[in-house]
Amino acid sequence: MVCLGNICRSPLAEGILQYKAEVAGLDWVVASAGTAGYHIGEQPHVLSQKISLAKGIDISTQRCRQFKKEDMVEFDRIYVMDTNNYEDVKQISKNAWDEKKVSLLLDELYPGQHREVPDPWYGTEKDYHLVFDMIDQACEKIIEKYKPR
Ligand code: 4NP
Repeated sequence: MVCLGNICRSPLAEGILQYKAEVAGLDWVVASAGTAGYHIGEQPHVLSQKISLAKGIDISTQRCRQFKKEDMVEFDRIYVMDTNNYEDVKQISKNAWDEKKVSLLLDELYPGQHREVPDPWYGTEKDYHLVFDMIDQACEKIIEKYKPR
């Protein structure tokens, strides 16, 4: 799960997908990263922590890290929140770039529509709720897609 800062959106996405995978009995390694290095080592944003905790998901132990080329090799699927993240991941990955692995997260819900999870960094608590709900629905789709029948 990748966003710009790895502070607001992608920590939520990591926490939500990890939680849903565990509930579904899927032994997945879920991680998140930011394309920028502004907040390396920091906890997720207080509002991301507050909103997810209210839904039973504790993301307080996550620490911000920057996306690196090796992530493109290590992970099977990479979900980005917006098109800038997509371009930045491509640039960071250099010769390891694998287009087949990378999708906009909301393409899981709205295939081909190229919708984005908006950056709530300058927003209010309401914006974090909206972001949580978008990510939650997209992660549910991912679980449905990969869960063994
Ligand atoms: P995120 O939000 O990409 O959802 O983590 C942001 C967090 C920090 C900054 C920008 C976006 N920043 O400019 O520091």
